[in-house]
Amino acid sequence: MQHYHSINDIESLPEWIDEAKALKIDSLQSKSLGKEKTIGLLFFNNSLRTRLSTQKAAMNLGMEVIVMNFGNEGWALEYGDGTIMDQGTSEHIKEAAKVVSQYCDIIGIRAFASLTGKEEDEAEVVLNGFKKYASVPIVNMESSVGHPLQALTDAITMAEYSNKTKPKVVLSWAPHPKALPHAVANSFIQMMQRQDADFVITHPKGYELDPSIIKNSQIEYNQEKAMENADFVYVKNWSSYIDYGKVLCQDQNWMITKEKLGDAKFMHCLPVRRNVVVEDAVLDSDQSLVIEQANNRTYAAQIVLKKILEHLK
Ligand code: CP
Repeated sequence: MQHYHSINDIESLPEWIDEAKALKIDSLQSKSLGKEKTIGLLFFNNSLRTRLSTQKAAMNLGMEVIVMNFGNEGWALEYGDGTIMDQGTSEHIKEAAKVVSQYCDIIGIRAFASLTGKEEDEAEVVLNGFKKYASVPIVNMESSVGHPLQALTDAITMAEYSNKTKPKVVLSWAPHPKALPHAVANSFIQMMQRQDADFVITHPKGYELDPSIIKNSQIEYNQEKAMENADFVYVKNWSSYIDYGKVLCQDQNWMITKEKLGDAKFMHCLPVRRNVVVEDAVLDSDQSLVIEQANNRTYAAQIVLKKILEHLK
């Protein structure tokens, strides 16, 4: 594998899941693979899990790690072709990507959607700028429209906790005071479309996601009906895609409660707002998999880096 831009770069999901499980047992089995290789992790947005788990994964593979909070510490980048740079931007992506490529063998990029313009976000200017001008592999650490490391993590976690060949999996929208991107939900949906699952998406009207991602996935606007007999309930807030980036609903009836969850396992990518998205009783119960998911971020990242390093050899 030459890069990891989306879950379409996963060559064989069952094999990767099995390899991740093996890595959990012996995380240092490929410690020499990344010797004398450096990964640069560039963050244009905040992170806890992605930053630390990807760094840990690289260290488990013997790599050197450079982390930069580009959003706060880097020069403001210009992405336009032929722009007269007499305004706020100081450095063009053409130079920046080529320069970072000289210091690093792999580059990880985190750059969220701005949620101010659908076309601009869908153009993925930061990720695509690095993809275009860098001369080394690029790993998507959450872009405007996707979070493929999280989706791989979620597949690994469900494989560990599922005792059915075809579990019922529900993706439920939940309230949040701020406008959040669509990336986690998008990648989770794409991942579920690759799995043998009874998959249902539930959200209030007006929160329909990009039809090119939803495809034929089932939507049920009644949350309680959607969640009936679920094995896994994956919860995430996202802002409206149709009324782009807007918060249309803060109805607390959509918060996940223990009563609604039934016997299902609760999943969330974190960070999560307690008693807004989900009540304490769920997060503090043994039905919650959120800490296990966060743990699996390391092994998802490690599989991805291992595949890229094997290709670089
Ligand atoms: N789930 C996730 O990507 O967490 P961070 O935003 O903390 O990296």
